[in-house]
Amino acid sequence: MTLPRAFALVLFCLSPALAAPSALAQDEDWDNLPPGEHRELVYALCSGCHSAQLVAQQGLNRHRWDKLLDWMVEEQGMAELDPETRDQVLDYLESELGEDSRG
Ligand code: HEC
Repeated sequence: MTLPRAFALVLFCLSPALAAPSALAQDEDWDNLPPGEHRELVYALCSGCHSAQLVAQQGLNRHRWDKLLDWMVEEQGMAELDPETRDQVLDYLESELGEDSRG
């Protein structure tokens, strides 16, 4: 019988393709945060109280992101970030979610 063998061969060939969607799904887990340096950090810090989607949909310059972080700390109860972490967060926000980076 050749049919079951052909079937097995097809399954075998498909298995890498079946494994691939998990890599895609992973990317969607970032709530639309674009890939970039410190994305993980921003996701971890900013998706606790609201969806990171709320962050991803904003496009601000560095100064306005900076003010927004002040507001998040002073009015929304976010823990103050140490200067180095804050810098990394701002780097990401500025370069990936800056005023000009909205598509
Ligand atoms: C301690 C909780 C908390 C954390 C942590 C937090 N936020 Fe927020 N954030 C809020 C609340 C509360 C709102 C107001 C939500 C609303 O208006 O419904 C908000 C709103 C926002 C908005 C929308 C502002 C607007 O004008 O509508 C943005 C953008 C935002 N946060 C960015 C961030 C970023 C970036 C971080 C990480 C550095 C962060 N948030 C972390 C509580 C938090």
